[in-house]
Amino acid sequence: MSHVVVGLADATDLPSIGTLHARAYHPTREWHRRIFPESIAPWWENKYAMDIADPNSYVLKISPPDSPTPTPVLGLLSLRKYDANEKGAERWTSSPLPPEVDKEAYDAMIKSMVEYRERFMLGRVHLCLDHFGVDHEYQGRGMGKMLIAKACEIADREKLDVFVQANEFAESFYHNFGFGTEGRLEMPLDGVTQCFLVRKCS
Ligand SMILES: CC(C)(COP(=O)(O)OP(=O)(O)OC[C@H]1O[C@@H](n2cnc3c(N)ncnc32)[C@H](O)[C@@H]1OP(=O)(O)O)[C@@H](O)C(=O)NCCC(=O)NCCS
Repeated sequence: MSHVVVGLADATDLPSIGTLHARAYHPTREWHRRIFPESIAPWWENKYAMDIADPNSYVLKISPPDSPTPTPVLGLLSLRKYDANEKGAERWTSSPLPPEVDKEAYDAMIKSMVEYRERFMLGRVHLCLDHFGVDHEYQGRGMGKMLIAKACEIADREKLDVFVQANEFAESFYHNFGFGTEGRLEMPLDGVTQCFLVRKCS
């Protein structure tokens, strides 16, 4: 696509980033509506304010060039560099969640992300791709490909492997960019399968 560009997000993008997850996932994914309801937007803004200020994080956004402020964020991908022996969920558990969140499903998702990242990645510095989505209205126009290509470019430049916990429906998308499936898990109670993929640096 020639009329959108991938760039690093900054603080002026936060209001649009706050609604991105709902715009990307809610039209088709009931599980995501329960875990990340619309009322969680300020929580996303808070998380991304920390990520944007963090030199170990890359918050990639896709938006039209020369767009007015506040920038419309049409797609987002965040990558964070973890130390070789860094454990835990980091800022996924650092802010209180609104009461509308299905806490049991949220906790199960975070627990699996922590468990599998530690299982596959500990012992070496690595990147974790912890959020990726394109506004539903703009899907299928090459924006996801532009974002993941940039993420892979960063990983190759830094010579780091990348871990991602992905929804089953996006698994083949990742395979096309050099990720291999290392594990799968059916989430308790939900019947939703999560995949754990690793891309080895080239
Ligand atoms: C997955 C997602 C990020 C892809 O972004 P997108 O802008 O729609 O994708 P693109 O238009 O760049 O498509 C690139 C290629 O991937 C394919 N593709 C897109 N979504 C796919 C999916 N869910 N599974 C498999 N392939 C997919 C496209 O057909 C296209 O293939 P082609 O190059 O052979 O034509 C986007 O659809 C999305 O946000 N989905 C909902 C949230 C989600 O699943 N996020 C992934 C994190 S687990």
